[in-house]
Amino acid sequence: MDDLERLAEEIREADTVVALTGAGISAPSGVPTFRGDDGVWDRFEEGQFTYGRFQRDPAGFWTDRLELYETMFGDGYEPNAAHETLAELACDGHLDAIATQNTDGLHAQAFETVTDSDVDDKDDSSADLLELHGNAHRVRCVDCGRRQSNEPILERVREGELPPRCACGGVYKPDVVLFGERLSAATLQRSRQLARESDVFLAIGSSLVVEPAASLPRQAARTGGSLAIVNLEATPCDGDATAVFRDDVTEALPRLRDAVTARE
Ligand code: APR
Repeated sequence: MDDLERLAEEIREADTVVALTGAGISAPSGVPTFRGDDGVWDRFEEGQFTYGRFQRDPAGFWTDRLELYETMFGDGYEPNAAHETLAELACDGHLDAIATQNTDGLHAQAFETVTDSDVDDKDDSSADLLELHGNAHRVRCVDCGRRQSNEPILERVREGELPPRCACGGVYKPDVVLFGERLSAATLQRSRQLARESDVFLAIGSSLVVEPAASLPRQAARTGGSLAIVNLEATPCDGDATAVFRDDVTEALPRLRDAVTARE
């Protein structure tokens, strides 16, 4: 039995299956990754997007943020086969939660696509979706906490409103976790609980170098879960994995789904 067949059997027999995803799962959709060839951090200075910079210089931050947003998301993009495969596994009851580091909203869109298209023969997918680093398509007022879609706010930034402000006078911040900013305690606690409880933990399309997400795979492996990594490049967690698939996500995940459903 090869690694894929063994993983498929573990997933069929598991009570709890959790996936952690990173930028690599959205790369086939055209969203650039942060590291690796032509990564975002080769084109932009990470230090321009820290929470400290936002607090010190919100106008300059938003000028750079608009350029970063248009580079990452400007061309428009759709979920790819990897997002849809995870949504299908969730609808079939083989995936209980996705914790994503991505802020592109593509997992949520894939769930909508999959549940709309097969609503008659798919369970209601009760999978948890945790956006560990927030969602780039929303902004939040740092004073009153009001959230709203970022499109009209980006338009106001383009027209020179720097920084964009809420009706209450507070500055809007992208609804993402910036470097130097803490994840919400609830999100962090939930993601660690999922790692601990998982019988199978899939780390997909992530370099696994940014904390606290990078510790989740090891946490899963340490508490007896089977860790499988799908990533084009080596990661620091490869040594803890039961199986490593040095494959493209759009190849590996549909093959895994087929292997899971073939023996049902
Ligand atoms: N199939 C499989 N793996 C891929 C693919 C693909 N088609 N394309 C890229 N990859 C792999 C790359 O080899 C790389 O190791 O995906 C990984 C993406 O790594 P990063 O760009 O570092 O993205 P990520 O791990 O999500 O970064 C974590 O860093 O900058 C912060 O907040 C940002 O959430 C992000 C965090």
